[in-house]
Amino acid sequence: MKGKLFGIGVGPGDPELITVKAVNVLKEVAVVCVPQAMPGKPSLALKIAQDYLSEDIEILELVLPMTENQDELERAWQDAGLKILEQLEKGKNVAFLTLGDPSIYSTYSYVSKVIKRMAPYIEIETIPGITSFSLAAARAGVPLVEKDESLIILPVGDRQILLDSLIGESNVVLMKISRDFDFVVDALENSERMDNAFLVSRCGQKEEKILKNIGNLKGQKIDYMSLIISKNQGEEL
Ligand SMILES: C[S@@+](CC[C@H](N)C(=O)[O-])C[C@H]1O[C@@H](n2cnc3c(N)ncnc32)[C@H](O)[C@@H]1O
Repeated sequence: MKGKLFGIGVGPGDPELITVKAVNVLKEVAVVCVPQAMPGKPSLALKIAQDYLSEDIEILELVLPMTENQDELERAWQDAGLKILEQLEKGKNVAFLTLGDPSIYSTYSYVSKVIKRMAPYIEIETIPGITSFSLAAARAGVPLVEKDESLIILPVGDRQILLDSLIGESNVVLMKISRDFDFVVDALENSERMDNAFLVSRCGQKEEKILKNIGNLKGQKIDYMSLIISKNQGEEL
């Protein structure tokens, strides 16, 4: 019998913010896959899950570089998919760890597509996790949406898409803000959203910061693990 693949959201950082279902699966699987930006780099996802793993678990490190080069990315997803498939073909159940929720900008979605394409007979189950922005809103004590409000979730990349998202009435979650931080600051300022925005770094981790005066950070290097929540109206922080 072939093994089953589980995509597991481990939450944003606090090991208590992982679901009971994820913990139960982690105790049972034979292999845990840990995505890494470069070989040997300590994995935060593994650190979160560590206490829930069985002693004899096999750890499969997958190097998935942070690059904008599409060819390089596709090669890495393909290699990762093949390595995972090798384990599944041996009948081992495999858990792929992902920070936050696997459905939100996660490498897991690309790698699981590769596996689906190569081996459609493999059973795959995705176990959701708490997203970084859900925890960020909770830590700031601010609701993400109320009544008829809408929410835009946007990775910083295309500048025009970013500007368009800030024009309307939606609440906006900006992720991957470190890619173009000073532009984000100007965009919030120009759209008169600065007063109702806050930045959260390393949410759920011991280095967590929640900052209101985002404009003061212009010119500084921002931690990749940071996001901004831009509310459409003032909230007491
Ligand atoms: C590749 S996405 C992964 C998102 C993740 N799957 C989730 O559900 O939150 C990485 C981006 O998520 C945000 N992020 C992830 N973890 C975070 C944390 N603990 N605190 C603040 N932002 C975080 C940052 O914007 C970061 O650039």
